[in-house]
Amino acid sequence: ARTAVVIPAAGKGLRLGPGAPKALRELGGLPMFVHAVRATARAREVALVVVVAPPDGAEGVRELLDAHGPGSGVELSVVPGGGTRQESVRLGLKALPPWVDTVLVHDAARPLVPAATVDAVAAAVRGGAPAVVPALPVTDTVKEVEPRGDGPEPVTGTPDRARLRAVQTPQGFAREVLVAAHDRFAAEGTEGAGGAGATDDAGMVERLGVEVVLVPGHEEAFKVTRPLDLVLAEAVLARREE
Ligand code: C5P
Repeated sequence: ARTAVVIPAAGKGLRLGPGAPKALRELGGLPMFVHAVRATARAREVALVVVVAPPDGAEGVRELLDAHGPGSGVELSVVPGGGTRQESVRLGLKALPPWVDTVLVHDAARPLVPAATVDAVAAAVRGGAPAVVPALPVTDTVKEVEPRGDGPEPVTGTPDRARLRAVQTPQGFAREVLVAAHDRFAAEGTEGAGGAGATDDAGMVERLGVEVVLVPGHEEAFKVTRPLDLVLAEAVLARREE
């Protein structure tokens, strides 16, 4: 296999409440990113996992992986991340060895993704799709608004829910396509709303005019963002260990 996974794990996780960076918060007694590394390393297609650590936390991440990582079979490396998710992914891409031709980007904050979902994304890329994203139908109705810091926000539209999908990770790419997208938007300084950078990699690839396709995502690939998500993640983990 020539597939590598880049795991951005440098976020502060402010929405989760005060405490350590999100990827270092514990789930079942282990930091979230360790679960994410193990989950992706379990996939048959994956030969290398690159963890993008908090800028001042690479050493600690390395030590945690030595102690609790997946062990045999898969190569691991750790690089320091940046101030936005987009920068962190770019730093991870720079660390890839030449033999990698397929890159999956997987949020550390999705620690419970099934190996079958990872393999399905990688297989679709290897089958010829330049960009592949796991996704699920949206259950909530979604409104578009005129954002306001304070007071009620006026609604400007209601997209047809049947045409919407909620996207997950790992998102998979032909290596040169993802690198081209990151180089282009880093050079342009093109950032998403609020200067936070792109919130997903496929969005940048779409802006290059490259076709992105969806494959079925999985409920257990949900993102741990808010405190309630941690409760759910603990419950899913406990059910698996029964
Ligand atoms: O903030 P959000 O939940 O979208 O973060 C998604 C992923 O991106 C998380 O795994 C987080 O650790 C990572 N991230 C990063 N570097 C940043 C910000 C977020 O690696 N500066």
